[in-house]
Amino acid sequence: MKKLTVDLKERSYEIIIQNDILKDVKNYIDPNKNVFVISNKTVFDIYGKYFDGYNVFLMGDGEEYKNFDTYKALLEKLLSSGIQRTDLIIALGGGVVGDVAGFTASTCLRGVDLIQIPTTLLAQVDSSVGGKTAIDTKFGKNLVGTFYQPKKVIIDPNTLKTLPERQIKTGLSEVLKYAFIERNCIDKEGETFFDYLSNCNLEDSFEEIIYKCCLMKAKVVEKDEKEGGLRAVLNFGHTFAHAIEKITNYTVYTHGEAVAIGMKCILKLAFIKGYIKEDYYKKSIEFLSKFNLQLQLDKKYNYDEVIKALYSDKKVKYGKLNFVMPVDFALVELVHNIDELSLKESLL
Ligand SMILES: NC(=O)c1ccc[n+]([C@@H]2O[C@H](COP(=O)([O-])OP(=O)(O)OC[C@H]3O[C@@H](n4cnc5c(N)ncnc54)[C@H](O)[C@@H]3O)[C@@H](O)[C@H]2O)c1
Ligand SMILES: [Zn+2]
Repeated sequence: MKKLTVDLKERSYEIIIQNDILKDVKNYIDPNKNVFVISNKTVFDIYGKYFDGYNVFLMGDGEEYKNFDTYKALLEKLLSSGIQRTDLIIALGGGVVGDVAGFTASTCLRGVDLIQIPTTLLAQVDSSVGGKTAIDTKFGKNLVGTFYQPKKVIIDPNTLKTLPERQIKTGLSEVLKYAFIERNCIDKEGETFFDYLSNCNLEDSFEEIIYKCCLMKAKVVEKDEKEGGLRAVLNFGHTFAHAIEKITNYTVYTHGEAVAIGMKCILKLAFIKGYIKEDYYKKSIEFLSKFNLQLQLDKKYNYDEVIKALYSDKKVKYGKLNFVMPVDFALVELVHNIDELSLKESLL
């Protein structure tokens, strides 16, 4: 078992990571609490057996259900079941369930305790930790939400055994991003995460990988809970990724697939603009290539559209693009003002 604490004073909580922990999950849940599990059918059909005796509300499966209708339906179910402020909500599923259940928990009765039990790699290394909750709107994704820390995060890496391969790859991009920002997250001696990932056998190492990622995310969140600055480093590769997702209507690439291409673009941009040297650039591309991720945006897309989409990102301030730029091994810096020509070149 691996444990770590996200230290946020009175909002501190533990992350517990252990293969097969779901089999004894009830040992980690206060028996005196009235528990409401929010999940979806896909996940609950497989793992629901470990939650018998609890109230269960299932939502639709997919990003298209991360919306007001689902939120409203969940609230109505919780309230009509007589939920009290002293009760507990459990989010069991991927990032979609985690975001909606988290938002619901944070607003229902002005806040009901929440435990995150993430079951996708993306949710285990990223979305379940840090307290961001959200739903999507017709004006854009994640535009309505709260910062609401869970009381606990329980992670069973063995749930990845039932996760489709494409979803593993999606989460893998988020794992790899930590290799490029490690020094922004933690001061540490010894083997780097970059080298650890280069040498490990992925399938046998998920417990350790998830632990290392959660530790890095925890350290960033401890220093910048509400994304005033440092937390932006977690968006490494994401500026290009969001633009790519946008021009392909969120239907061609999964988020992680877009992040893989986005990481290649920002590394190339960093090299073109002289922020990193050639050997680190080459080593990085070699590293990303090892994981069989597509790094090149399909040539059939109009690269000018990507540039246009970059400028319409919600994080663009005063028309200036912000990039989480690699500047040295495992180190990034926030950089503004990049010329369009270089942006385009980095997509090629
Ligand atoms: N809150 C945050 O900080 C944060 C960070 C990153 C991403 N997100 C959000 O996370 C969402 C994406 O999450 P995701 O990638 O986990 O997608 P997802 O929640 O849609 O899960 C992917 C698919 O896998 C299925 N699934 C989940 N666990 C499974 C398992 N163990 N076995 C078999 N199938 C399983 C799901 O039902 C779904 O069909 C996006 O909405 C994104 O905005 C939030
Ligand atoms: Zn992401």
